Amino acid sequence: MKKNKILVTGGLGFIGSHTVVELLKEGYEVVIIDDLSNTRMEVLEGIKAISGVGPEFVKLDLKEKEKVRAFFKEHSIDGVIHFAASKAVGESVEEPLKYYENNIATLVYLLQSMAENKVSNFIFSSSCTVYGQADELPITENAPVKKAESPYGNTKQIGEEIIQDTTKVMDLKAIALRYFNPIGAHESAHIGELPLGVPQNLIPFVTQTAAGIRKELSVFGDDYPTQDGTAVRDYIHVVDLAQAHICALQRLLEGKNQAKMEFFNVGTGKGSSVLEVIKAFEEANGTKVNYKIADRREGDITAAYADTELANKELGWHAKLGLKDALSSAWKWQLKQ
Ligand code: WQD
Repeated sequence: MKKNKILVTGGLGFIGSHTVVELLKEGYEVVIIDDLSNTRMEVLEGIKAISGVGPEFVKLDLKEKEKVRAFFKEHSIDGVIHFAASKAVGESVEEPLKYYENNIATLVYLLQSMAENKVSNFIFSSSCTVYGQADELPITENAPVKKAESPYGNTKQIGEEIIQDTTKVMDLKAIALRYFNPIGAHESAHIGELPLGVPQNLIPFVTQTAAGIRKELSVFGDDYPTQDGTAVRDYIHVVDLAQAHICALQRLLEGKNQAKMEFFNVGTGKGSSVLEVIKAFEEANGTKVNYKIADRREGDITAAYADTELANKELGWHAKLGLKDALSSAWKWQLKQ
């Protein structure tokens, strides 16, 4: 039987590379597009080391519209999983136009080329950021989308709207997966989170501090209205998150979607505070994390964790790995750097 061929944009990134591994495991044919602006070619070696087979790789900047069109003429694609985007919240505040160009224009060019070539299955990498500080926890997919606190978050909201409008007039079925906080690494430690420069996200900063690369972790605020004053997030193992993409893709390929565009929260359903994460990391890995309490970070919300019922029921997907699994895999990956 012909294997479905899946395009993974940003497939050498953190979540993209873990999703490519799961796609290859499921027997899909994979072609990666990545512009290498925020990753390294060695990630492709890592994927090959795990999967035994190498996905096809095309170095391409999705801002180059004609090259995107030429790509789709050359490849017969059955579905697209779209990760490629800039994703640093702080940087997006300093360079909004870079984010609107890189995250929005590229999405438009991708959808235009899909329409021209009758590619109708699309999975979009979205984020719980679209909810801002939700009024109710856990957060369901019906929670209102709130005004984004950053251009990065705004590009996710605008991206969802662009796709929704396009499904109304194009033969396109789409699923937006709203990620909570992806962490950890593949158990083999051949791939993982590769923050280039000073890490913005919590876990890479924790692992680099524990490894002595960073002097100490700043905990951004301990005066939030939470159990220990530090902010709460839903930390999901990146391998669980990758598998949610396989379930979503299968739903579209089998035509099981209930609407032309669907949204699913992808998290564990459990919230952990920053201090709880530090404690869990130290217990899981028998190592110390130097930290100090610092001021709150601009734009941070108090708490977010997912109501995962819809993804559990409709995608037949559950997070299987816990916080300590993710934190020990992150540490194993750090020790390999
Ligand atoms: C988590 C918690 C910080 C660093 C963002 C985006 C989301 C996704 C993931 C792209 C917060 C605290 C962090 C540090 C700290 N983006 N923290 N010291 O902000 O929840 O989510 O990144 O993929 O869409 O919104 O993730 O890891 O930056 O922060 O105390 O050095 O850790 O204040 O409470 P965040 P994060």
